[in-house]
Amino acid sequence: MNAKTAVRKALENGLVVPAFNIPYPPMLKPVAQAIADENSVAMIQVARLEWEKFESVSLENIAEEYGKYAVEGHTLLHLDHVPVIDEDHLEVDYLPIIRRAIAAGYQSVMIDASRLDLDGNIAATRSVADLAHAAGIPVEAELGAVMGHETSQASIPYEEIFARRLGFTEVDDALRFVKESACDWLSVAVGSVHGAIASNLKDQKKPAAKLDIERIAQLREALDIPLVLHGGSGIENDYIVRGIRAGIAKINVGTELRQPYERAMREKNDVEYAREKVYLRCRELIRDFLRTANDAPILS
Ligand code: 13P
Repeated sequence: MNAKTAVRKALENGLVVPAFNIPYPPMLKPVAQAIADENSVAMIQVARLEWEKFESVSLENIAEEYGKYAVEGHTLLHLDHVPVIDEDHLEVDYLPIIRRAIAAGYQSVMIDASRLDLDGNIAATRSVADLAHAAGIPVEAELGAVMGHETSQASIPYEEIFARRLGFTEVDDALRFVKESACDWLSVAVGSVHGAIASNLKDQKKPAAKLDIERIAQLREALDIPLVLHGGSGIENDYIVRGIRAGIAKINVGTELRQPYERAMREKNDVEYAREKVYLRCRELIRDFLRTANDAPILS
């Protein structure tokens, strides 16, 4: 199955490809099983911060785990956030990471240069797009500020960020960005926030985020490429449904599965028990929330 085709078909059919993060390797098996059992098409993904700050170990380790549990026609392997400047504001040598992901068999990659200015973001994304396209895989980029990962959280309340559209993706910038960077999918800032990962915040319930549906529709019309929603956990169901209809074709979900896994491990310290919790929650998410059940024939 081809990642670019699956996401494009999702866009054309008003559907979404969910992408589930794997901060702990044992989560991968139940997530893959849940995707297949819901007859869905979804990505299994890992971000650099999940091998730096959680227990994924490395992108190669997740690729190896994926090799054991992937289900043909249902699962895809994606490399999530490789930041150019990371959440601690440190520079990252990103091209070698992308090369390693290509060598390990990732079917799509994300470069996140959104902490740079527009020109810098275009240049970094372009260099990754050239590499990835030469290997025949698509690239996701980010434009705008999807907050939440920063170690030091901004003190502006969410309601104010949303009301003032702070850091949201501007249509004119996005138009230039997509043309010049050659990215295939664009992660947009339209109201969602990433689940916090700082150790003092990571167990908290996420604030319920809203989405600017009108901005999503404007971006989709101007760009005509699949849009990606990060921070997919904890958004009201109605916003998700309307967001997908307006042009979101991939949704990243991390916290919704990470927290049940961590809670279960704290409760019993039993990997199989924690896996069962992840499996059940993942099925629920796909069935009740991401509305992709029985979509495999359309997307794969
Ligand atoms: P959540 O943890 O908020 O679901 O966000 C995940 C994400 O966007 C990973 O890129």
